[in-house]
Amino acid sequence: MVHERVYPDLKKGDRIRPLKGLSGVDVFLIQKKSGTSFVRKQSPTLEGNIRLNKQLDKQKWFMQRGEDSKVLTPEILGEGEIGGRLYFDMERIVGLDGVSFLQRASYQEVEAFGRFISEYLRWASEEESLFPPRTSFSESLHTKIDAVEEKCPWTLSYCDALRAKIALIEGHDLDAAWCHGDLTFENMMIDSSGRVVFLDFLDNYHEHPMPDVSKLFQDLRGLWYSRHGKVVSASVRGFLVQRFMKVAAELVGPSVDAALLTELLLALTFLRIAPYATSVRDIDIVRTRLESFT
Ligand SMILES: Nc1ncnc2c1ncn2[C@@H]1O[C@H](COP(=O)(O)OP(=O)(O)O)[C@@H](O)[C@H]1O
Ligand SMILES: [Mg+2]
Repeated sequence: MVHERVYPDLKKGDRIRPLKGLSGVDVFLIQKKSGTSFVRKQSPTLEGNIRLNKQLDKQKWFMQRGEDSKVLTPEILGEGEIGGRLYFDMERIVGLDGVSFLQRASYQEVEAFGRFISEYLRWASEEESLFPPRTSFSESLHTKIDAVEEKCPWTLSYCDALRAKIALIEGHDLDAAWCHGDLTFENMMIDSSGRVVFLDFLDNYHEHPMPDVSKLFQDLRGLWYSRHGKVVSASVRGFLVQRFMKVAAELVGPSVDAALLTELLLALTFLRIAPYATSVRDIDIVRTRLESFT
């Protein structure tokens, strides 16, 4: 039984139900008979503990130091191990995921959302990295591209196109800074007061808010999330892209071509999806996006 693995303390009258995620990690909502509820996230394997632990570290750090960022994260309520598998418990957020919110939001709500995320990105660029990369930005990009090319030989021409773009930014490396690591619209919730809450932090190929911008663009420009049918209007997407592009230019400074770098990193987000795209439809979407953004 799954609840014995995830929550052996389940009492009569308590309820446990899975929340949908993509990473294969167990995420469950636990509602106690007493009325309290929380979310438990547990690694399904012993090997997965390392990554989940990094996520937990990031979430704790953000909880403590992110208060100036204008964005929140669920409070960590506890952590431990069951059968050697790491878990942590966190506050349950009631709200909408990013795409569902943007589908319904008023102009003022979209405006406020754009402001919060922009503030977050500026805050992140000033904040130190929790897992500082050991290599320069361009080296980290090369390492990532080489790894994908080895796993997915069909991406070869796109990998070469990206390498050519990296050559154009060589010598303008970005210093490491804070990074959410997987800032998709699925990994954020917006509560009824319009507060933005970040979930599901991850370590990243190079800690800096620019990969966060590229993850936002994965959905806003690359419509990755929307492949399941949830589409945000072009005007809302255009408005946010323009706002975040302005912030991206601030983050990289005048010596780097922000448009070129955002395009490069956006292509890289799709390149990174390539090894996980298994259905004909998903491979086709990834290929089309790589055509557009390389
Ligand atoms: N603290 C929380 N409160 C409410 N819902 C949550 C919470 N944490 C996760 N979820 C829901 O569960 C989903 C999966 O959680 P997430 O941490 O993103 O796992 P995964 O690593 O599998 O993507 C989220 O997209 C969100 O809908
Ligand atoms: Mg997630």
